[in-house]
Formats: sequence, structure tokens, C-alpha cells
Amino acid sequence: MSHLVLGIETSCDETAAAIVRGGEGRGGGPEILSSIVASQNDLHAEYRGVVPEIASRAHAERLLPVVREAAARAGVSLAGVQAVAVGHRPGLIGALLVGVAGAKALAWSLGVPLVGVDHVHAHLFAGLLVHPGGPVPPRLPEVEPSLPALGLVVSGGHTSIYHVAGPSALTRLGATIDDAMGEAFDKVAAILGLGFPGGPAVDHLAQSGNAAAFDLPVSALGKESLDLSFSGLKTAVLYAACGVPERGRSGLSLPCKLDAQGRADLCASFQRAAVRAVLMKLERAADRHRECRTLLVGGGVCANRALRAALEAFAVTRGLALVLPPLHLCVDNAAMIAGLGVRLLHERAWMSDSLSLAAVPTTAA
Ligand code: KG4
Ligand code: ZN
Repeated sequence: MSHLVLGIETSCDETAAAIVRGGEGRGGGPEILSSIVASQNDLHAEYRGVVPEIASRAHAERLLPVVREAAARAGVSLAGVQAVAVGHRPGLIGALLVGVAGAKALAWSLGVPLVGVDHVHAHLFAGLLVHPGGPVPPRLPEVEPSLPALGLVVSGGHTSIYHVAGPSALTRLGATIDDAMGEAFDKVAAILGLGFPGGPAVDHLAQSGNAAAFDLPVSALGKESLDLSFSGLKTAVLYAACGVPERGRSGLSLPCKLDAQGRADLCASFQRAAVRAVLMKLERAADRHRECRTLLVGGGVCANRALRAALEAFAVTRGLALVLPPLHLCVDNAAMIAGLGVRLLHERAWMSDSLSLAAVPTTAA
């Protein structure tokens, strides 16, 4: 039997809603019937980062119109929805609260189960969603994805490597100890004056740059570690762009001294170092977890062309099934929330979370 699940996502600066059908999609994964994302990029651009209070207010204004739009695009009425899934952790607490309160009200008024979903875990399952009539997500090589799998989440807020045994059985093997990978891209873009969010701009500029032009550090953090660090790399980019500041003076106050080609070269060199850092840790994780024959990837940074190419090469070399979401499912969206929500509900026989479900700023694991 198939179920229609409404997904709601408000953890950061995207207000999103989606309708997903569980159980009958091609390939067995939940199938997306609609996915609406109202981005707040324009509201935060002038601050070069997400302003929590602005994000919460925008979510409150946009949530119901976005939910209605998701239902209309899917051709269903809200009364036909059989569960409500909401991203309830991790994220900005005020932003999460808007989505969680809205989801509770909808689930209660519709008389259907509510399920709280970890946003980071949802990123990992995003590539397994099926699109009606659309292409099956790209998988390399042609090996069917299976669990247990290795998981990589690379986003603006998170950079973590997981062992994924099931929808509710994820173990974090390693994570960034400072900046997330996307955050490092955004800060590099800020240093070079490329706007916010900076990842796509750095990716674009890197296309015309020489990745060997700057010798930038790749943090290993010890022989055994599966953790990552991007702050040293970010500082190296700052010094390469603006020069090493004199004692007592902040590097951030110095203007960038590179010409257009120099900026492109620095973007390409930074990107290469950042991708190498991630691949080094994936190599280690794959060595330790040979039972994992699949690599699930998610998060906004997996839109990055250099990272995608490196992950594809890694999967081919290791003979792993690579599940790399299409670009619109890499970034924050509610289809991934509904998709993991329906898997969790199946696992626990449709038992609802309590209406006292909390919004939590940290991830579960
Ligand atoms: O997953 P996401 O939409 O939001 C979070 O949960 O954080 O990821 C957003 C992050 C931003 O830091 C953005 O700069 C980065 O993903 N990003 C990219 C690219 N597209 C988005 N980073 C590198 N290259 C890209 N093409
Ligand atoms: Zn995210």
C-alpha cells in the first residue's frame, strides 16, 4: 500500500514543503510528487550569512503558502495526506520551531501521524528518492545500492562521514572539527568578494583556474582520524589572497590583491585541497568498512563539480554503488524530509511521534 506524506523543512534559510508517495516508486524508493523550495538567499545576501531572526520571520510568512503549493502541484488535497514529516533537528532553533509548530498543527488537525526527521540523515537518503517520469538518480558503477552503506554529508552546516545501516541506524564516523565544507566555500567567496552563498560562485570561477597555482594545506588530523578540518585551509586562502597581516592587524581588513586570473586560480586550488581532504577520509572509512558496498552522498556541496568528479572516480576504483542526488536534491529541500520520514514510519509501523516533539539545534548522531 502506498502512503502520501507531507514533508516540511525550515531548518535554515529555505522554506520547503513536498509531497512524497512511499512504497511504490520505481526502484522501490519513495517517489516525489512535488517539491517546493522558497529560498531566502536574497534576504540574507547583504549580511553574507544567514541571520537567524530574519530566517524565522520569513519561514512564518512563507510556510503555509509553500505547503499549499506543494499539495496543489502534487494534485492532492491536504486531507489526502497520511502523515506529516518535519525536519526537527539540527538547525537554527527559531527557524526549526516554525516548521515543527506548523507540522504539529497540520498533523493534529488532519488526524495523521507526525514524524520528526534529522535533516542531516535526510540528506543521506535524498539520492534514493524517485522522480515521476524523470531519470533514475545517477549511480556509478551500475551496482544496485544496498545497506549498510558509507554516507557523506557535505553542506553549509555539516560535513560528516557515516556508517548507514538503516533509516534509524546511522553512526557518525567522523565530522569537521571546525568549519563545514560549504561554510569554507562561503568564506573563501567572501574573501574574494564573490557574494553569498559562495559555493556556486567558487565552483564557477574554479573552472577557469589552475588548481596547481597555489600550494594549500590538506588537513589530515592524525593517521587514524576520520574527522575533517577546513579552518587552516581557509586561513591559507585568506593569506594567499590578501597577504599575511602584520602583527596585531586582522587579515580580514586587508583588500584582496589578486587579479581576475589569480582569483580563479585560488578558487581552483582551494577546491582541489578541500576535495582532497574529504576523499582522504573517505578512503580511510572505506578501508575500515569493507562491508559497505554503497556510498550515499548528500548536502549542498555535492553540487560541486570537482567533488562530484572525485566521488565518481572513487566509486569506480572501489567498485562502490554511488548514490549522488540530482542537483535540486543536493541542496535543502522537503522531499528528502518526507522521503526519510516515510521510511521511518514504515520501520515503526506508523507510530506517531508525540505532539511534544522538540526542535533540537544539534544532530542526533
Ligand atoms: O545543504 P545546503 O543547501 O544547506 C545546509 O544544510 O547547509 O548547503 C548549502 C551549502 C552552502 O554553503 C553553499 O555555498 C554550498 O552548499 N554549495 C556549494 C555549491 N552549491 C552549493 N559549494 C560548492 N560548490 C557548489 N557548486
Ligand atoms: Zn542541509
